[in-house]
Amino acid sequence: MIETPKNRDVRGQNARKTALALLRAVLDDGRPLDEALAGNPHLAKLEARDRAFARLLLVTVLRRLGQIDAAIDRCLDRPIRAKDVMLQHILRLGAAQLLFLETPPHAAVSTSLDLAGGPRLAGQRGLLNAVLRRLSREGAALVEGQDAARLNTPDWLWDSWSAAYGEATARAIAEAQLGEPPLDLSCKGDPQAWAEKLGATLLNAEMPGGGSLRLPAGQGDVTRLPGYGEGAWWVQDAAAALPARLLGDVSGKTVIDLCAAPGGKTAQLAAAGAAVIAVERSVERLQRLQENLERLQLGAALVEADAAAWQPPAPADAVLLDAPCSATGTLRRHPDIAWLKDSAQIASLTAAQDRLLAHAVGMVKPGGLLVYAVCSLQPEEGQQRIHALLSADDRVERLPLAAGELPGFEDCLTPEGDLRSLPCHLPAQGGLDGFYACRLRRREV
Ligand SMILES: C[S@@+](CC[C@H](N)C(=O)[O-])C[C@H]1O[C@@H](n2cnc3c(N)ncnc32)[C@H](O)[C@@H]1O
Repeated sequence: MIETPKNRDVRGQNARKTALALLRAVLDDGRPLDEALAGNPHLAKLEARDRAFARLLLVTVLRRLGQIDAAIDRCLDRPIRAKDVMLQHILRLGAAQLLFLETPPHAAVSTSLDLAGGPRLAGQRGLLNAVLRRLSREGAALVEGQDAARLNTPDWLWDSWSAAYGEATARAIAEAQLGEPPLDLSCKGDPQAWAEKLGATLLNAEMPGGGSLRLPAGQGDVTRLPGYGEGAWWVQDAAAALPARLLGDVSGKTVIDLCAAPGGKTAQLAAAGAAVIAVERSVERLQRLQENLERLQLGAALVEADAAAWQPPAPADAVLLDAPCSATGTLRRHPDIAWLKDSAQIASLTAAQDRLLAHAVGMVKPGGLLVYAVCSLQPEEGQQRIHALLSADDRVERLPLAAGELPGFEDCLTPEGDLRSLPCHLPAQGGLDGFYACRLRRREV
């Protein structure tokens, strides 16, 4: 099709309409971002460029929601009524374009008015127009004066991080969460060679088994990158690759990988020569794990089961439990989590984590290792679970990480010898996901 200003505008408007529907799915219906993106039929029909714009618009609103709402509030005489939620979302999308995406003001304003084109919003177009025009004039100065880290972090997270890490680190975490994360890859073999082929940085070359590859954010469709089709690597944040490394050399050992899908850690263990039993409760996610292993030409025994009840055929040399959690360490990728979860949900997660941990201990051979991991920044889901386990179960003891065991990630070691990565670690290289992991050993009987 020949591109004309008219059809370009229509396409851009379809992207905005899709972003509006997705924003409603996330903020009004409480659907997780990934699920909303995967389940939207219109998104898949957009051209690649428009799909990328719809996603960028949505993610920008979610990452900058606190700043955007505060800026809109400054332009209103009285708050938007709860029932005017469509007006509020259209304002947010318009504001995101004006304040953060450098959309020309006339385009941001006129396309927002088009989104409000139906009869239901007819009476509100004047307000929409006035607020967005004011933001187009005063928005830059407003943003300049905002405390971005604080505004974009809900109180429940700010208070929790300040208490756990101190206010300066809480602020550094919040700032690091505002950016698009780089793309990290784990390689099946020869990371150095793949770093050269892909033009990637090898983050931690001295790591036993090879380090993670890092490419700048904005790579687009990863399936087009060299090596994807032949199964040379998989996408995995450098911090997410650390928990499996705490098991040391697993070659020839039996390792049970609990809560395994989509299989980043299963792939690591299988590539390192372990006989892996991967246990996952969700049949759809287990299917994805299987597809991922097939692409990588790696093998593992796959089990669809509740890891808190499943019994292994025999105790294993090692168990890795990557427990379901609030995932607050991954806000760079999932900014929806900040607004969809709250501290009340942490309590039900910790109960499940305790059940999984207690059951996992029984799967480890005497003398064998158990690694517990969560991609959460909340201490309740991390070290507090280990303290609870160690005070209740004397079958296991902590086996602290030694200094130098994780070269390049020395800042991620806690005084107790656990792993605690933060989004503000490795700032010059683009940060890390927030992970907690603890290594335990089952005592000899
Ligand atoms: C944090 S993700 C695991 C990521 C995975 N280990 C990886 O590295 O790719 C947690 C997984 O646990 C699964 N899950 C949650 N509760 C479970 C349970 N009781 N038994 C087995 N799997 C469970 C979820 O379906 C989800 O796939």
